[in-house]
Amino acid sequence: MSAAATGTSNTERVFIFDTTLRDGEQSPGATMTLDEKLQVAEALDEMGVDIIEAGFPIASNGDFEAVVAVAKHVKNAVVAGLARAIPADIARAGEAVRHARQGRIHTFVSTSPIHLAHQMKKTEEQVLEIISATVAQARNLTDNVEWSAMDATRTPIDYLARCVELAIRAGATTINLPDTVGYAVPEEHEAMFRSIIERVPGADTVIFSAHCHNDLGLAVANSLAAVRGGARQVECTINGLGERAGNAALEEIVMALRTRADAMPYATNIESTHLSRASRIVSAAANFPVQYNKAIVGKNAFAHESGIHQDGMLKNAQTYEIMTPESVGIKETTLVMGKHSGRAAFKDKLRELGYELGENAFQEAFQRFKDLADRKKHVYDADIVALVDDEAGSVDDRIRLVDMEVVSKTGGMHRCDLVLSVDGREVRASFDGTGSVDAIFNAIKQAVGKDPHLVLYAVDGVTGGTDAQASAHVRLEMNGRIASGNAAEPDTLVASARAYLNAVNRLMIERGAAAQGATEAVAS
Ligand code: KIV
Ligand code: ZN
Repeated sequence: MSAAATGTSNTERVFIFDTTLRDGEQSPGATMTLDEKLQVAEALDEMGVDIIEAGFPIASNGDFEAVVAVAKHVKNAVVAGLARAIPADIARAGEAVRHARQGRIHTFVSTSPIHLAHQMKKTEEQVLEIISATVAQARNLTDNVEWSAMDATRTPIDYLARCVELAIRAGATTINLPDTVGYAVPEEHEAMFRSIIERVPGADTVIFSAHCHNDLGLAVANSLAAVRGGARQVECTINGLGERAGNAALEEIVMALRTRADAMPYATNIESTHLSRASRIVSAAANFPVQYNKAIVGKNAFAHESGIHQDGMLKNAQTYEIMTPESVGIKETTLVMGKHSGRAAFKDKLRELGYELGENAFQEAFQRFKDLADRKKHVYDADIVALVDDEAGSVDDRIRLVDMEVVSKTGGMHRCDLVLSVDGREVRASFDGTGSVDAIFNAIKQAVGKDPHLVLYAVDGVTGGTDAQASAHVRLEMNGRIASGNAAEPDTLVASARAYLNAVNRLMIERGAAAQGATEAVAS
């Protein structure tokens, strides 16, 4: 069992607690299917993540089943399930994580005056009683218990210290002090950890953890400051996915610690060459594009455009590069495959790109590759990644595009006739729109009998050139729920239609209301 699991402190090692599947999935529109969650969990486990927070088991049967499935699937990491400070939540989380080789119950309660007064309507003394009772309940179910003081950074330090002391006494092995609303600044965050660790009896017997949100763009800086202040676990997500502006980005924390080991002498267990692949997997599973200039994993993170930079790079890469693309798993984009490439070469290429597909998925991907190679002269690595990710995202779709014809006339009408398969039944629709995309989206709405609000529509080229595949992204809102859809195709209009359908399909995935309001939850 790791030190994180047993609660023994370690001065050099920083444990990485990934919450992409819990806090990340709470991000509006980032809902993942069970298969996608398993794929993400496997990538995190292979990468060396110490603790994977797999979900919030009480939120819905789907969430419970997902935590159980991840717990059974993961080989090395501790698997955590979230629970409010409510007996039923804790029992359900315990039931889910007991399937893991190493399971953890992560229970939380708000401690700040503003949460106590307006959300929980409890006194400080009542919350102290709740902490003792709920942590003890969790500890009776497992010897690996994390307790979080929600909104810790807006909690008076004396009261926070009393809460932490009681949680430790009741048996917590990890103490998390979250910056729930992304309010902290680094110096103050470091001081909070230092002060709590110095003054609370028993602090040396547990691991302290930072959990920072990015509302002011300070999540990573605050997480690193917390480590300086004594935290030895950092909670983060791939691509910084998460509520509102997101959580601290795992890849940034890992690479900052690695690249600046001279200034921050702490090691993680993460194999950094897996970062780029993990980013792609999460982006595809959550249907969340990564911003181009995102540190470490953005498309432009290692691109050098200006003449001076290019000149320097040619003379010595270290002039403008503080880490190599290879260190995060990025390989040179090469002209790789064409229509004469066979199954073995395609399998090799997939392996090189980090994909191990089952036989059926491989055959489907190969067929799509052949179709693409027939229509597109050069097939690049990025095309293959888009093709495989797109395939993975659409397997559970209940509604599929069968056929589509679009007629578009300058200054005239734009018409879409389409055929969909809805749960195996053929449905036809036609619509005249003000533009081709308008006609397509309205025809789909007519065919499926739903009228979601279009929040976002964007199209991008997977590679350069006019024959590049188009990657379309659609975000829809219906009855308070948001879902995103992605698709890549050589034809922009077909990509747009399939992305729209992908989002409609995701709107139909059942999800418990509690899951969406995890951080709004109150103890009772
Ligand atoms: O941001 C937060 O406070 C949380 C807790 C549930 C740990 O996500
Ligand atoms: Zn959070």
